[in-house]
Amino acid sequence: MMGGSKERARERREKRLQEISLLRTIPYSDHQRWWSKETIAVVTGSNRGIGFEIARQLATHGLTVVLTSRDECVGQEATRVLQEGGLDVAFHQLDILDPSSIQLFVDWIRQTYEGIHVLVNNAGVNFNVGSDNSVESAHMVVATNYYGTKNIIKAMIPLIRPSAAAARIVNVSSRLGRLNGRRNRIEDLNLRRKLGDLDTLTEELIDRTVATFLQQVDDGTWTSGGWPQTFTDYSVSKLAVNAYTRLMAKTLSNRPEGEKIYVNCYCPGWVKTAMTGWAGNVSVEEGADTGVWLALLPDQAVTGKFFAERREVSF
Ligand SMILES: NC(=O)c1ccc[n+]([C@@H]2O[C@H](COP(=O)([O-])OP(=O)(O)OC[C@H]3O[C@@H](n4cnc5c(N)ncnc54)[C@H](OP(=O)(O)O)[C@@H]3O)[C@@H](O)[C@H]2O)c1
Repeated sequence: MMGGSKERARERREKRLQEISLLRTIPYSDHQRWWSKETIAVVTGSNRGIGFEIARQLATHGLTVVLTSRDECVGQEATRVLQEGGLDVAFHQLDILDPSSIQLFVDWIRQTYEGIHVLVNNAGVNFNVGSDNSVESAHMVVATNYYGTKNIIKAMIPLIRPSAAAARIVNVSSRLGRLNGRRNRIEDLNLRRKLGDLDTLTEELIDRTVATFLQQVDDGTWTSGGWPQTFTDYSVSKLAVNAYTRLMAKTLSNRPEGEKIYVNCYCPGWVKTAMTGWAGNVSVEEGADTGVWLALLPDQAVTGKFFAERREVSF
């Protein structure tokens, strides 16, 4: 019995891998291309890893990309690599936790490009590997992954330029932050329901949820708090990103035609980057793929969704 179901699972996995590689071979055809060199895309934390690859792929598709990094020298070096490959990439320093860095960035974007069309929130941290589950860095993880992402979205929305094809915000998140996944869930059913229901979901509820977790980290009670069990701090931070993605999609859906902004999030898979100690089973090219696809989707109103390998998944 077991052998049979394993075999079927393996076949399903292989079929899906074939589908994905087919999807990747289909080029972004000219008639669907809503962007040009005048289309400005900002990618946070793009000096390395998935962010660098997203910047590279977007620029390869012909957008002008603003590569950002909290470390000026490292970011300039990464930008030079892409420029030497003939791509339209500019650099500006951006630390998503530093209000003065964000303000300088906003001012520079306004002066240089007047605004942007695509924002990819990729910058993030995780301090656990393998079976570790330390919450020593929980405050930093939640601050960067959730509040940092929120900071940038709030700072950049006023800079988003009107576009017939709609502007795009893509948040690089994780399956570990799924509210209703089979594993690694918040145990409190009532909280799950409230976070999962767009009628009860508020920014205040998301903030309160992460604050409760951090409070329990501080007073040492978090292990019995019913939080996700794998990389708990990281999972809580990405759960908050996912919930905020849905909330923003709803909030922004009232914008008039021509000023629409679609907001989605995705999981890149387990990717070979510094974050995983170069473990993982997915290359950066594959890890970036769904994010680039979401950023460039042709004229379709896809918003408030969570994707993995170009497939919509429930939150
Ligand atoms: N790798 C995976 O398996 C995996 C799985 C699911 C989701 N993700 C998500 O994918 C995204 C990219 O991760 P990665 O795997 O490419 O890891 P990575 O190589 O460690 O890259 C993370 C990037 O975020 C930047 N960053 C961190 N804090 C920042 C801050 N305060 N301001 C600006 N930039 C900051 C880093 O800058 P520095 O170089 O200065 O540190 C780096 O450029 C993250 O959001 C991560 O959570 C990764």
